[in-house]
Amino acid sequence: MGKRWQRYLDGNPEYLARHYWWAYLAPFGVWFFSHHTIINLILFGQYRRILDALTARLASADCGRMLQLTCAYGELTPTLAQFTGELHLNDVALIQLRVAQQSLARRQRTALMARMNAESLSYTTNSFDSVVIFFLLHELPAEARQHALGETLRVLKPGGRLIIVEYAMNRGGHLLHLAPWRWVLERLEPFLHDFWHSDLSAQLSGCATQHDKVLAHIGTTFLFGAFYRVEEYRA
Ligand SMILES: C[S@@+](CC[C@H](N)C(=O)[O-])C[C@H]1O[C@@H](n2cnc3c(N)ncnc32)[C@H](O)[C@@H]1O
Repeated sequence: MGKRWQRYLDGNPEYLARHYWWAYLAPFGVWFFSHHTIINLILFGQYRRILDALTARLASADCGRMLQLTCAYGELTPTLAQFTGELHLNDVALIQLRVAQQSLARRQRTALMARMNAESLSYTTNSFDSVVIFFLLHELPAEARQHALGETLRVLKPGGRLIIVEYAMNRGGHLLHLAPWRWVLERLEPFLHDFWHSDLSAQLSGCATQHDKVLAHIGTTFLFGAFYRVEEYRA
């Protein structure tokens, strides 16, 4: 008899089925986490502030043709749709795309959706004016993260904007960086430790170079005592 998570493989990456089936793939989990209160709780009550910081950056320049790299619960997708006439959304999990579709339809918004692994996108090179990544990177094993960032830099047009919403680096300065919170978070998020201690800007610059691009860091908005951040870059 197979393990419970194996029934969720179904074209999904192994790490996603193994570690996150309960959050992103199982119907009950998807229903549960789709509630605003739950998502806000997971983000320690910071959901609105995070979204506001993101939209403040989006509003500062034209977003053009935009890619949201993978689905996210809550208001993100309908919010992004307000900033562009052409929003593209990919995810490897069909159930997530269905939920995003329903969420957009309720607000009379649309997006062009495709089932696609972030590690190997089918979009053509230099096809987006802006790419938004919302709390995806810390959920990816290091190798998958490297591939997803490489693909992001490939599909981002020269002059395009990349906005990343994520945990800030862990320098041990926040209460939640200390035990027992750290243990709880790292248990729930098996790749968070690695992400917390990795240099995202350096990794992105390396990916940009591979695609003959140079990435300028425009700015960072720190939130919740520098536990979260919104990073903006321009290719
Ligand atoms: C954006 S992340 C985290 C979002 C955040 N926890 C939230 O909902 O607010 C979660 C999404 O990434 C998707 N995902 C994870 N790995 C992926 C990959 N390699 N390619 C495409 N989608 C992926 C999952 O299916 C899920 O829909």
